[in-house]
Amino acid sequence: MTLDQLQSQFEVFKAKKLALDMSRGKPSAAQLDLSNELLDVVTSKDYLSFQGAETRNYGGLDGLPETKELFKDFLEVSSVEEVVIGGNASLTIMHDIVSRGITHGMCDSEHPWGKAPIKFICPVPGYDRHFSICQHFGIEMIPVSCNDNGPDMDKVEQLVAKDASIKGIWIVPKYSNPTGLSCSDEVVDRLSTMKTAANDFRVFWDNAYAVHHLSEDQDVLKNILATCKAAGNANRPFILCSTSKITFAGAGVSGVGGSIENMDWYRGHLFFSTIGPDKLNQVRHNRFFKNIEGLYVHMKKHGALLKPRFDKTLSILKSELGETGLATWTQPKGGYFISLDVPNGCAKRVVGLAAEAGVKLTGAGATYPGNNDPNDSNIRLAPSCPSIDEIEQAMQIVCLATKIAAIEIGIIKNSVLN
Ligand SMILES: Cc1ncc(COP(=O)(O)O)c(C=O)c1O
Repeated sequence: MTLDQLQSQFEVFKAKKLALDMSRGKPSAAQLDLSNELLDVVTSKDYLSFQGAETRNYGGLDGLPETKELFKDFLEVSSVEEVVIGGNASLTIMHDIVSRGITHGMCDSEHPWGKAPIKFICPVPGYDRHFSICQHFGIEMIPVSCNDNGPDMDKVEQLVAKDASIKGIWIVPKYSNPTGLSCSDEVVDRLSTMKTAANDFRVFWDNAYAVHHLSEDQDVLKNILATCKAAGNANRPFILCSTSKITFAGAGVSGVGGSIENMDWYRGHLFFSTIGPDKLNQVRHNRFFKNIEGLYVHMKKHGALLKPRFDKTLSILKSELGETGLATWTQPKGGYFISLDVPNGCAKRVVGLAAEAGVKLTGAGATYPGNNDPNDSNIRLAPSCPSIDEIEQAMQIVCLATKIAAIEIGIIKNSVLN
């Protein structure tokens, strides 16, 4: 097929004046509907906690006992003392931990992180909001590439061993944003045991997709806190999660887990910023799920809505680009994203062309610190929100745009593509 022929196909799509969005990992309306009962389980007559505690008033700084119990299982820590419940966003907790590290230092810091320039390791491609936190606080970001099992651990170990200004690493351990891939046991072991020049180094274990499986074929993670404890590094991980993509993205419950020392440190800081969290929302969530088994059952309903969307995205990639050698992509068992790599130098052009045809994609480069994908090749696809028909059209356009961009920059000749 020639460039002219591809371009005329493209013009046909453009003429449809589509408005499709595969840019953000948001739950669809049907997914949100799965949790509507949350809005009914607390009423004007019935709002006390399981144990009869008042939930409307101040108090309960680190969460209701029953919510901590639920999150103990969710975060896979061993006691409720290792849990603090937050507000509606785990991102707020991550931001606050970094902020307090800078102003006050961690529980085992010799001085506040902010006393000297600090750095974080940022596995790439990664989650743009992690990078934004670093940027916001002026933390230098060191990109380290990911393979199918997590970050390149040879590189990570080398870096942290010799540089005490490296204070943290961001990890999305399961069904990562954007690759959808999970850390192997070996990566968990190496992150837990590696020697760090900084004795107050932290792993930000953002397990945002801990229970977000697409089917029964699921990834299982080795327990990071247990592994760190066994290695004598109990204070290394902060484990984050939330119900943002389980119940309501804007009105869920978040939590953090870690060693009691870390949690006491966090509780100590929390005291100054709140007199207590939204316990009514905690009660709602406890009543809705009942226990962790209830949460797992609920997640199967999400999986049933998401799986056909992932399948459609993958099948169009395969049928349109599979034989061309132009692109590679991940095939996740869970999470919200598929990571697509187009030829070097083409990602921005593909995203731009898709936008011309009415398909909004995550900005090219967003999966790299400073928006700078050195190869200009990575594109994050988010299939959760559009309908299957919309995904079909959007992906046809993305694939067509990839072929056009590849021909334009001379990677392939006009007539090579079918
Ligand atoms: C890896 C990751 N962490 C955190 C979040 C945001 O979580 P929350 O809504 O709990 O702040 C997202 C949302 O896309 C995410 O992909």
